[in-house]
Amino acid sequence: MRSHDVVVVGAGLAGQRAALAAIEAKRDVAIVSKLHPLRSHSGAAQGGINAAVGKEDSVDTHIYDTVKGSDYLGDQDAIEFFCREAGPTVIEMEHFGTIFSRAPDGSLARRPFGGAAFPRTIYAADRTGLALLQGLYERLGTESFTMYEEWDLTSVIVREGRCQGIVAFDRRHGTFEEIGAKSVVLATGPCGRVYGRTTNSHTSTGDGIAAAYRAGAALKDMEFVQFHPTALLESSILITEGARGEGGLLKNGTGERFMSRYAPHVLELASRDVVSRAIITEVREGRGFPGGYVHLELMHLGKERIESRLQEICDFCRTFAGIDPVTQPIPVMPAQHYMMGGIGTNIRGETNVPGLLAAGEAACVSIHGANRLGGNSLLETLVFGKQAGIAAAEHAGRAAAPEVRPADAEAEAARVGAMTSRTDGEEPQHLRISMQAAMDGLVGVFRVPDELTQALSEVRALRTRYERVRVVDTSKSYNLNLTDALETGNMLELAEVIVAGAIARTESRGAHSRVDFPKRDDATWMKHTMASRGPDGPRLSYAPVAYTRWEPKERVY
Ligand code: FUM
Repeated sequence: MRSHDVVVVGAGLAGQRAALAAIEAKRDVAIVSKLHPLRSHSGAAQGGINAAVGKEDSVDTHIYDTVKGSDYLGDQDAIEFFCREAGPTVIEMEHFGTIFSRAPDGSLARRPFGGAAFPRTIYAADRTGLALLQGLYERLGTESFTMYEEWDLTSVIVREGRCQGIVAFDRRHGTFEEIGAKSVVLATGPCGRVYGRTTNSHTSTGDGIAAAYRAGAALKDMEFVQFHPTALLESSILITEGARGEGGLLKNGTGERFMSRYAPHVLELASRDVVSRAIITEVREGRGFPGGYVHLELMHLGKERIESRLQEICDFCRTFAGIDPVTQPIPVMPAQHYMMGGIGTNIRGETNVPGLLAAGEAACVSIHGANRLGGNSLLETLVFGKQAGIAAAEHAGRAAAPEVRPADAEAEAARVGAMTSRTDGEEPQHLRISMQAAMDGLVGVFRVPDELTQALSEVRALRTRYERVRVVDTSKSYNLNLTDALETGNMLELAEVIVAGAIARTESRGAHSRVDFPKRDDATWMKHTMASRGPDGPRLSYAPVAYTRWEPKERVY
């Protein structure tokens, strides 16, 4: 029987940092991941990691910017903790071996990012996530732990009111296996692939969020979906906010720097929800380029600066769009980028299920509230990954040994067996594409009530069809048709939660912009949405926002 003190699911930055903290607390730790750690979605983060280390900057300013950026839905106690941890976290990562870009005086280079009062985003060219992943992976490699690589999480086991482990699918051997654990940390990343137009990797399918939801954990603020303003047209590959931080300009079809209409003080460096709405408005009002997009111009920055600070952007534009940003503008449009919501946790990563913890983008602490600031996501993975690892180790120290029952894995094998033995039924890829079309078309930057209602009924119809999902490929080893079926089921469940929360929230706040309720409504809606799984879909309730020092006021950039 496999059993560990702490099982961390997910091997990106949050998962690795949680594992390291639990190992340092002398626990027997295992990591379960569907990917090699260095292929985690954390590696897609380009622009940087925030820490108020500049002389002109302060932790209090970082806290205030984050509270304001969240449109006052972020929990201020969590934000204070988060921002105080930022400097030590970056320095620790440097000591682990992350190579950051440098200013001419040798200090950590910082670039301006949206919604920040000072240049606060520390970076490694435009490959910051990858640089951090490599540093942490090297550090973790000096420790002893068990790695289950290319294993898909399929369920979280909760018995006698506490989490006792997981069931996972071993892709190589084609078997379902139970892994007992006193504590489980879910660090499985986001569910951005519920959308078709997204900057998220194809593996961002919300497996941990859905498994937690099925196991009784409450999901928090799932209706808040961030659209990154500048995704490369057609492919939706991320063009980092660092490009605007370096001085990139947004221009509409008439050559106008249109951000002056929407954020007269900071222009391109307003927060992401503001810039995304501005771009969509320009295009809808006929001021985009034919086909519907705007330009991001870097040419004036010069070849040396573009090619040294934005190396990956140059590669992406040249390879995937056939344009050279040194001499040509980049065609961009907003695309889904980040989920502010996730598995509800406290600052220590604990959920409402004892022994079940979560960290990183799979979790919602909540520090981002209704809108996340760029550069706060990488920081979140490390700060709260560590806290979850510490709390998981502490819990494992007092919890009884888990009861590992082969029947759990057998039940999962039977569930999937029904999919593979069907001779007719629904192909998962068709369901996935239809879900993505509904989310792209009906649950976007601006939310229209009739469209949300239609999205809910489409997603529910797809969930009904999913009951007859069929896995055509019967291969035992590396059956990616089966992986697709499991992931699609997870995403359909989460798409329903996103839409249900968006229908219920009759106000506009941060990234949730309702055309029928264009104003923020603090009297009614200054609260977190909590979604629990019921027999007929999500059951919504609401939880208070934590305040410390900042009274809500109008958010102007
Ligand atoms: O634009 C970016 O580089 C993304 C950064 C982030 O989401 O924090």
